[in-house]
Amino acid sequence: MSDRPRLTVIGTGYLGATHAVCMAELGFDVLGVDVVEQKVAALQSGQVPFFEPGLPELLRKNLDTGRLSFTTSFEEAGAFGDVHFLCVGTPQKKGEMAADMTYVDAAFRSLVPHLRDGALVVGKSTVPAGTAERLAAELERTATARDVELAWNPEFLREGFAVEDTLTPDRLVFGVRSERAEALLRAAFQPVLDLPTPVVVTDFATAQLVKVAANAFLATKISFINAMAEVCEVTGGDVKKLSEALSHDTRIGGRFLHAGLGFGGGCLPKDIRAFMARAGELGVDQALSFLREVDAINLRRRARMVDLARELIGGNFDGKRIGVLGAAFKPNSDDIRDSPALDVAATVQQQGGAVTVYDPQAMENARRVHPELSYADNAVEAARGADVVLHLTEWAEFRQMDPAHLESVVAVKNIVDGRNALDPQLWRDHGWTYRALGRP
Ligand SMILES: NC(=O)c1ccc[n+]([C@@H]2O[C@H](COP(=O)([O-])OP(=O)(O)OC[C@H]3O[C@@H](n4cnc5c(N)ncnc54)[C@H](O)[C@@H]3O)[C@@H](O)[C@H]2O)c1
Repeated sequence: MSDRPRLTVIGTGYLGATHAVCMAELGFDVLGVDVVEQKVAALQSGQVPFFEPGLPELLRKNLDTGRLSFTTSFEEAGAFGDVHFLCVGTPQKKGEMAADMTYVDAAFRSLVPHLRDGALVVGKSTVPAGTAERLAAELERTATARDVELAWNPEFLREGFAVEDTLTPDRLVFGVRSERAEALLRAAFQPVLDLPTPVVVTDFATAQLVKVAANAFLATKISFINAMAEVCEVTGGDVKKLSEALSHDTRIGGRFLHAGLGFGGGCLPKDIRAFMARAGELGVDQALSFLREVDAINLRRRARMVDLARELIGGNFDGKRIGVLGAAFKPNSDDIRDSPALDVAATVQQQGGAVTVYDPQAMENARRVHPELSYADNAVEAARGADVVLHLTEWAEFRQMDPAHLESVVAVKNIVDGRNALDPQLWRDHGWTYRALGRP
């Protein structure tokens, strides 16, 4: 092996495709592996199958250098790689809170028989505590290659900033059991470590917990301010001013302290639920029982949003048109997994409203999962004839929208700002009835 280990990235979704492209950008030879042939073909032809700013350009650039390619063959992956990053999904199990580990287990079992002597398998997926220990034991039992090892390197990238977060992460966490594994991981991240980037070297248990602890903390901070929004709603307070005032306290800080429709996506909701489920199995469920409330507060915001919209149009959605701005779980992403915006849109439609949705990037995904909703090509068309407009994902184009653009097309000038991201004064000055979560 040269100084630079050859890398494979198993599972080329939001995390894996970004990781593969960015590691090639950092100068490594990288082979991406997925079981979905169309995904592999798209990536190999320079198409990113999802929206992530900056990624398509870097993909094409690195395909051209010859350092990056994609395959469906685990045999090829085993022969190619010194270090293998496992990046497959760990979604919530249907009807349960726990994480579904079938993809991790399947990818691992497909790879292990093909490993070369000395290879390092590195888990990146977000997993329940105990997974690394279990996989390490399985590796020892089943691998035919010599000196193969497991390490855990949780991933913290944010969709929408995934390239930046991979090339210049806040920190790296290495869960390892040997100096050799640490040395291989250091070699696999050398350009990032040189920036310099802080690295925390620890055991398997801690490495796995760092990720879920970080998500539990962020979810708690969001639900905390949303709980304050609930209190503001009955006291007449303004949660936006409240969070502004809190944010000046450097012990608290303003990040993740924006009251609104709450969190969603493919990580926070399922990660806190899986964390609670695992804590229950380990007999420490009391330690995490607060996360139950964090989850409940978060979901109550969606119900409150529907209630606000209904109140504003006279108590009933029947026969009313609802324009929805936003479908992605957050701006700068086309990810609709557990999207609060789509959850609200679908609930309003179920309650009798005629909902038309527009999102700058998530239309295709939204259409596939919610074919019962109507879709428009832009914000003005989504708002046409609307009795109320709901602002549910704070894309810049919505935040910067001039109320005058919508007022000639809506039936009634009603807007509910689910993200506390519009300027109430501006909309009210244009004659709109503006309502928001946690504000008078
Ligand atoms: N998306 C994020 O922002 C993010 C951030 C940090 C951590 N994570 C974690 O990373 C993991 C992946 O998340 P994601 O959002 O990229 O999921 P994803 O669903 O976008 O991607 C998973 C990929 O794995 C592939 N796959 C499934 N089974 C496979 C197998 N047996 N072999 C090879 N490939 C297989 C799928 O086809 C898919 O392309 C999860 O554990 C998630 O919690 C995600």
